[in-house]
Amino acid sequence: MTGNSLLTCETTQAKVYRLELRKHFTNRSLESYLATFEKHLAVLNDKINLIVDSKDKGVIEDIKPTISTLVLDTIGENLFSTSFSSQKAGRKEPQFITDIDCCLTEADWLLIEQWKTTSGNFVIMSLAAWLGPMCWKLLALAGRVISFKAAMIKLVIKIYWKVFWQRRMLGDQYQPPSTMMGAVVDRQMSAFYSSNLSPLTFFTGFRDAFWHLSIFMLAGHQTSTMTLTWALYYLCKHEQVRQKLQEEVDDFLKNREENSPQEMTEVLTDKSALKYLEAVLKETMRLAPAGPYLGRKAAVDVTLPVNFAEDSGEPTEFITIPAGTNVIVMSQYMHYSERYFRKAGSFIPERWLKATENEFENIPPPCYNPFSAGTRACIGEKYAMLQMKLALLSLCSKFDFTFAHPDTTFCTPLHHMVQGPARFAVKFSHRRK
Ligand code: HEM
Repeated sequence: MTGNSLLTCETTQAKVYRLELRKHFTNRSLESYLATFEKHLAVLNDKINLIVDSKDKGVIEDIKPTISTLVLDTIGENLFSTSFSSQKAGRKEPQFITDIDCCLTEADWLLIEQWKTTSGNFVIMSLAAWLGPMCWKLLALAGRVISFKAAMIKLVIKIYWKVFWQRRMLGDQYQPPSTMMGAVVDRQMSAFYSSNLSPLTFFTGFRDAFWHLSIFMLAGHQTSTMTLTWALYYLCKHEQVRQKLQEEVDDFLKNREENSPQEMTEVLTDKSALKYLEAVLKETMRLAPAGPYLGRKAAVDVTLPVNFAEDSGEPTEFITIPAGTNVIVMSQYMHYSERYFRKAGSFIPERWLKATENEFENIPPPCYNPFSAGTRACIGEKYAMLQMKLALLSLCSKFDFTFAHPDTTFCTPLHHMVQGPARFAVKFSHRRK
């Protein structure tokens, strides 16, 4: 996906967008999102309670759509001025979510699988794919992209209409909307009016709003959904970890008087509070990072060490990457490397508890950046962490859960762009405290 949006634009333009958008991700904004998070979590809890007491006996056959609709409803209300109500609509995800899911998997196939199976040239392989039997796959992908774009255009029109109507109805009383997309659309509309209704200004404004919405839908919804789904997968797989997390959660909730949104946000954004919860999420994102590889272009010549002395650890060999080179950083390979993480393939949240004396200390910080780092790091990190912590807090405090089918196979999430675990079923039960 390319276009005029954060994530896909050049860094100079990104700085402008980030300046405009970052106010929607400050602690103060997060405080204002808290009520929405809690409201939609309550819907999820009611839903699970019903399933536990129904003939399904607490089994949700595919947990991902349940998580996906929760994340969609919250992001819709908090950032897009839109009430999707997809949790209430049933267990299925809206079509545009299925479309974007499919696009990501197929894009992964296009970008990575070809590199894995051949050392040849990507362009030649792409051509071969076009001409070969895989042609239908690309056509199907194009159909999905069109369908997703159509849904996003419809959504932008809805937001434009809402802002336009409020401007008309409220007159002097009108206040620009506080949600991110509401504010973007309001700004584009002001530019349209002040340009004497120039069609070109309207078109560019609409296009920018469309790209913002599409990218935030992808970067904000898919990532949190997949990470939370993976977290549940690992918690089902490792019962002791789940129990330990539940103890921490119970302890936290027991000592919690009615906190104000400000206090609650402070606690949940403080990395030293609820340490085990933080560690569970960190370990989930180590094994299943939603952004398993990052694309960058070297701005200047960069010299990097590639080999180290066994005894001293001093670099012995270097490589220079010339300015202008496109680089793909395979973060997930680092996450699975025994050089940086002992027992790298195992899910061990304890490795992140630095205060305890354990064998996993001293993880070099550059080896672990699930939200990336630097000027193009994830703008929604705090939002995502808050949402995921609240969701796990809520689920762990109210339910016990495990794989519904004990033979659920372990899947390793390697090389996939924002990909969740294969379909898995979770069995929930009321907690016996
Ligand atoms: C678990 C959740 C999330 C993870 C693991 C994650 C990870 C990342 C990573 C690795 C990048 C850098 C991509 C690159 O440079 O190629 C990124 C960028 C970005 N993320 Fe997230 N993200 C998450 C949630 C969110 C949320 C909730 C939002 C917004 C609501 C968001 C919005 C963005 C945007 C707009 C960018 C582009 C920033 C730029 O290019 O300047 N992300 N994210």
